[in-house]
Amino acid sequence: MNPIIYHILHISSLLVLFGYTFYAFAAPAESKRRVMMITGIASVLALVGGFGLLAKLQLGFPGWIIVKFVCWLGLSAIAGFAYRKREQSCVFMLLALVLAITAVVMVYVRPF
Ligand code: HEM
Repeated sequence: MNPIIYHILHISSLLVLFGYTFYAFAAPAESKRRVMMITGIASVLALVGGFGLLAKLQLGFPGWIIVKFVCWLGLSAIAGFAYRKREQSCVFMLLALVLAITAVVMVYVRPF
């Protein structure tokens, strides 16, 4: 498959994951099931896109990918915390931003 397909899959599903994660902080409790389903699917598709890119671009498994993987793990878990720990919304929103920005920095800086 063309790597562009994986690029589009990776970025589009990350946009959905990020958008719905922030929605979760303000969403009513009854939306939890739907939002957890959407963020779960987006999270898996982002990972499929990421590993698809790794394979297609023959990048191996460098250190910056491990950092991105940890950021993906954290970001994928935050929507759940957004519903369960409403009083700590600010901390989790900041964490989501830090994780997403770190993952983007890793692609362009590739420090290791
Ligand atoms: C928080 C999670 C993540 C964010 C915000 C993120 C963001 C990005 C961005 C902005 C790009 C550049 C897109 C482009 O050039 O078209 C990219 C590329 C890429 N990402 Fe991710 N990513 C994340 C997680 C992951 C994970 C978990 C993997 C691996 C399993 C991964 C593997 C890759 C690869 C291989 C590329 C292509 C690098 C290249 O063009 O040489 N990403 N990512």
